[in-house]
This record gives sequence, C-alpha cells and structure tokens, in this order.
Amino acid sequence: MQERGDAIVLIGFMGAGKSSVGRTLARMTGLPRFDTDEMVAARFGLTVSEIFETHGEEAFRDAETDGLRELSGKRGAIITTGGGILLRPENADLVRQLGTVVHLEAGEEILFRRISRRTTRPLLRTENPRATLKELLRVRLPLYQAAADIQVDTTLLTHDAVAKKILNQIENR
Ligand code: S3P
Repeated sequence: MQERGDAIVLIGFMGAGKSSVGRTLARMTGLPRFDTDEMVAARFGLTVSEIFETHGEEAFRDAETDGLRELSGKRGAIITTGGGILLRPENADLVRQLGTVVHLEAGEEILFRRISRRTTRPLLRTENPRATLKELLRVRLPLYQAAADIQVDTTLLTHDAVAKKILNQIENR
C-alpha cells in the first residue's frame, strides 16, 4: 500500500461548505488550493452545468477521476471536491491516497436552504428538489462516512470555526 499524502481533502454533500472552508483553510495555512469542479470546468472550458447539459454526467465523472489522478503526489495542498466524487469507488481510493480526508456535514434542512440560494447545481433541477436531495443523501452519506478520517458538522459554525476545528483535529491525530 502506497503511503498516503499530506493534503487536506474536503468531501461532503453540496452545500456542506467545502469550497468556502477550502478557501479559508488555504488562507490560514498559506497552502495552495485545488478544486476538482474548477479543474473539470477549466478542462472543458465550460461551467459544471454546461458540462452536464452538453456532455452528460458520465463525462463529468470521468474528468473528476482524471483531476484526482493529476493531483496525486501533490504535497501540502488543500483539495476540495464535488459532492458526487465518491460515486466512483476508484475515486474513494484516490481521495484517500491524497491525504487526510475531512467530511463536512450539515443537517438536511440547512443543506437544502444553502443549495437553494444558488441555481448552479444541475442534479437538483428536478420537479421535487427536496426529495432528490433526500435520496442523494441516503446514497452518499455512507460513502462519505466510509472515506473520512475526520468529520465536522458545519451546521452552526462559521467557515473560520470549521477550518480551525479541522486544523486542530489534524494536529491532534
Ligand atoms: C455534484 C456536486 C457539485 C458538482 C456537480 C455534481 C454532485 O459540486 O460537482 O454539480 O454530484 O453532488 P459541489 O458539491 O461543490 O456543489
């Protein structure tokens, strides 16, 4: 088994705060930040929604895996991922190889409220987004939990507080 890297990798459902907390962690630590959604968008020259519309979800997932492979071996980095990254079992291995995996979680209601503020999530453009969220969470929660080294509930915390908690927990491991 290859030695695991030293990146901090944020996983979790849409709206859990991965991108914002990732930026805060990068600011606090001075480490570079990489975001798989941004990498995939840059590769296609399209937004995530446009990629889903034009090329389909599978092409997006393929590019996510490629992005994780590109990041492997990166030392000292903050890596944020899309909420569906663990749907491919291979990605769970890649994510764990990168470093300490942090699962950001939040209650279903707060996730829905946060996600509803923006219309950039193609998977929730359904007739009943609330029911879709519930179903996606049911499938994904066990995947996040199985991959995570650390879990942080972001429901009542500021981005700064979440970032400090993560750094503390990593230091005390
Ligand atoms: C997705 C989450 C999104 C983005 C894409 C698919 C998902 O990222 O990767 O819309 O399957 O949960 P965020 O979790 O950053 O919103």
